[in-house]
Amino acid sequence: MSATRVCAVSDLVQDQARRVEVDGVPIALVLDAQGEVHAIGDTCTHGDISLSEGFVEGDTLECWAHGSAFSLRTGKPLNLPAYEPVPVYEVTIENGDVLIDPTAIKQA
Ligand code: FES
Repeated sequence: MSATRVCAVSDLVQDQARRVEVDGVPIALVLDAQGEVHAIGDTCTHGDISLSEGFVEGDTLECWAHGSAFSLRTGKPLNLPAYEPVPVYEVTIENGDVLIDPTAIKQA
């Protein structure tokens, strides 16, 4: 499958996660302080919680429910109770748009 436009880079607020869905796959987008856009699976691996409702801290996204912080680069939780990683997706920026291919998983 090819990458799908999910939003414009300008739609993203730095250090605030935004939930998008591509082909039914929920994805959390984060624009970090360096201007890099990250895309990780939006569902916490500890419970059915949307990570995009959580908090961005540096290069992690923290689940609001029980505090596991997931790396935006590797998808791995840095602390319990979650211990399984979320997928990390390739992000393509084209003409100011954010494109995601949910089958292009960098890390899982
Ligand atoms: S549901 Fe996310 S840490 Fe428990």
